Amino acid sequence: MIFDDCRKLMNRSHHNSRHIGMNALKKRGRSHRSASFSFGKPLQTTHAVFAADCVDLLRRLPNESVQLIVCDPPYNIAAADWDSYPDYVSWAIDWLVESKRVLATSGSLVVFGGIQYQGEAGSGDLLSLLHEIRSRRLFNLVNLIIWNYPNGMGAQRFFANRHEEVAWFAKSSEYFFDLDAVREPFDAATKQAYLKDKRLRPESIEKGKNPTNVWRMNRLNGNSKERVGHPTQKPREIVAKLVKALSFDGSLVLDFFAGSGVTSRVCVELGRHSISTDIDPEVTSFFSKQMTDYTYPDGTCDFKVLGEHDFQHHPVFTSGSQPSGAT
Ligand SMILES: C[S@@+](CC[C@H](N)C(=O)[O-])C[C@H]1O[C@@H](n2cnc3c(N)ncnc32)[C@H](O)[C@@H]1O
Repeated sequence: MIFDDCRKLMNRSHHNSRHIGMNALKKRGRSHRSASFSFGKPLQTTHAVFAADCVDLLRRLPNESVQLIVCDPPYNIAAADWDSYPDYVSWAIDWLVESKRVLATSGSLVVFGGIQYQGEAGSGDLLSLLHEIRSRRLFNLVNLIIWNYPNGMGAQRFFANRHEEVAWFAKSSEYFFDLDAVREPFDAATKQAYLKDKRLRPESIEKGKNPTNVWRMNRLNGNSKERVGHPTQKPREIVAKLVKALSFDGSLVLDFFAGSGVTSRVCVELGRHSISTDIDPEVTSFFSKQMTDYTYPDGTCDFKVLGEHDFQHHPVFTSGSQPSGAT
């Protein structure tokens, strides 16, 4: 998409996405507007993929250097050896506070999780994080997205679970949101009826509808072609929807619980820079597998991949800000 078209889309997006939350912000004397962004696909994007502890990695990043953090933390239900923290909430506060520091004013943090694991999740889960974030006023909750998956396990003693949550937090009221990038087409009958309605603008009908905060998408089946071997790998489709709506061409997306490297795979295709790290060194081989079927679809740009040894050449370090603790 060329620079000017993209800017027009952003402006219209903001106009159309005003809703009750925005009105509430206005009443409190704050308006939702985007900061100035530079749009246009870069010629090349850069992706760093390597093993690191989440907090160690965050402490290396400059202030306000990241547009979007895709965060799929351990669920704390002992589903794997990385999935159990004796004091989950205290541990999470460390990466949440650092996440806020590295996010741009226009930036967002999306946190995957479930709220159905109360018994198993002893020392904390997404529900505890939501509570902590709200009570410490760390971020503003914009949406709790319900990921409704039709494929799941059966159950006898309760209703079979068919959803997971994705909490979308903004750093400030000036968060970036490109609704037009993720609108859904109206079905043929609705579209025909709307086009006959003189009160509605045909351009708006053509653009499609707001996808709402309930997203129906399959989880990856065991034999899915996308699978690279990580036990809790998320589908590209859901990560792509978040990246399209909450980041822009050439901006930086960070995933410090990267697992299978799916976020960087999506960013390669969508023309964003990325950093994907995980405590498990297998993240690099998982990412290589993610890229084996990559065919440079039309309109995509070139990309390069960095490891830890050449991480200092990543564009995150050219923003001019300093990492925390730097003098
Ligand atoms: C739920 S999985 C993420 C899956 C990923 N979103 C995907 O789609 O492939 C959580 C990941 O957090 C990683 N992890 C656990 N503790 C960590 C830590 N302290 N620092 C960095 N990564 C950690 C685990 O190795 C695991 O891969």
